[in-house]
Amino acid sequence: MRLEEKASAAEVLAARERYVPRGVATSDLVVTRAWGARIWDADGREYLDFAGGIACQNLGHGPVGVVRAVHEQVDRYLHQCFMVGIYEPYVEVCRRLDELWPGEAATKSILLNSGAEAIENAVKIARAATGRPGVVVFDRAFHGRTTLTMAMTSKLVYKQGFGPLAPGVYRAPAPYPYRGVSTEDALHGLDLLFKQDVDPAEVACMVLEPVQGEGGFIPMPAEFVAALKERCERHGILYVDDEVQSGCGRTGTVWAIERLGVEPDLLVAGKTLGGGLPLAAVTGKSELMDAVHPGGLGGTFGGNPVSCAAAGAVLDELAAPGFRERADQIAALLHKRLDEIAARQPVVGEVRGLGSMLALELAEPNATAAKRVVAAARERGLILLSCGLDGNVIRLLPPLSATDDELDRGLSILEESLGDAGAE
Ligand SMILES: Cc1ncc(COP(=O)(O)O)c(C=O)c1O
Repeated sequence: MRLEEKASAAEVLAARERYVPRGVATSDLVVTRAWGARIWDADGREYLDFAGGIACQNLGHGPVGVVRAVHEQVDRYLHQCFMVGIYEPYVEVCRRLDELWPGEAATKSILLNSGAEAIENAVKIARAATGRPGVVVFDRAFHGRTTLTMAMTSKLVYKQGFGPLAPGVYRAPAPYPYRGVSTEDALHGLDLLFKQDVDPAEVACMVLEPVQGEGGFIPMPAEFVAALKERCERHGILYVDDEVQSGCGRTGTVWAIERLGVEPDLLVAGKTLGGGLPLAAVTGKSELMDAVHPGGLGGTFGGNPVSCAAAGAVLDELAAPGFRERADQIAALLHKRLDEIAARQPVVGEVRGLGSMLALELAEPNATAAKRVVAAARERGLILLSCGLDGNVIRLLPPLSATDDELDRGLSILEESLGDAGAE
């Protein structure tokens, strides 16, 4: 079977069924075009996109500056491999990441292909810098799907049947006030972990998402993050800030941790960083980044020049004052509307998030109603994603370039679709 250039949705779906394994869970949406906050399917139907390719399009589809930078780079060269011939776009992204570092330290960066690969590299760097093996992660964490990162991730579906998992990973509770886990409970759990399971002197790093993403859009309280940082300093443990989903402007600031007042030792970025092209980064205090011997870090495609050209334009846009202003307006608009919706729709248990990274948790702790809402919204022309350990959280990831009208229409569809949550 060979697909024609303008294959119908049914033909693409049939080919997907035939050639792509079921392990890659997909919807039946066949996309042919995307721009701004909107995407079009193979039948020409238009949708509002509140998923953004899972947080990769904080600037919307096809942002003009990013597309222009990509075109210019495509005409120069597509690939070099940074280890063979270095090039300016890679170094420039690292320079910009240093400028945008949420703290005082001088930093260096390494560029990789995916969030999971970057998390793996952050752990390698932390182990090399401390000479310790242990990694502490938290309940409901998502750090990726590779052998090390699936051990760090806190949901069975991502690791079931793929063991043995990487050793040296220890899990502590994270605050989840809506389901009764306070900051105090979580810290008590961490202190117990250090008494029962692992000597803190054997721990290289703690890795935390400032707003848990796949785990249910749960913002980590500032006092929890500060207490972790204090324990890190007390025990010589590095604090690794996983900003793959929460970063690149999603919460309004470039990095979510800026809102929490803590300077991390290493920061991991991905998703929106490449503006839609694969790119991730580990940025960290220079002396830590330089702890790894020459040859210990790298990869064939990491920091591909076209992705770096895109990232340069993304970082320019995120750092522009107008971006933060608009993100804050969007956060206020979304929060107000979501609170009103929650007051009218009894299926909604909680509205939460940080800045413009917002979600609704449905009261019933199972995926049934959330699946209905996502399906009903799709029927009405809105693409939504659920998340959470129980699959009952509806997360909103509209581009921060969306107009008020687009946001308004999307939220109205969301509310109508919540009305279908109880339907059989
Ligand atoms: C917080 C976080 N870390 C890491 C990852 C892994 O990134 P990737 O899918 O690019 O490997 C994700 C992906 O969703 C994520 O949300």
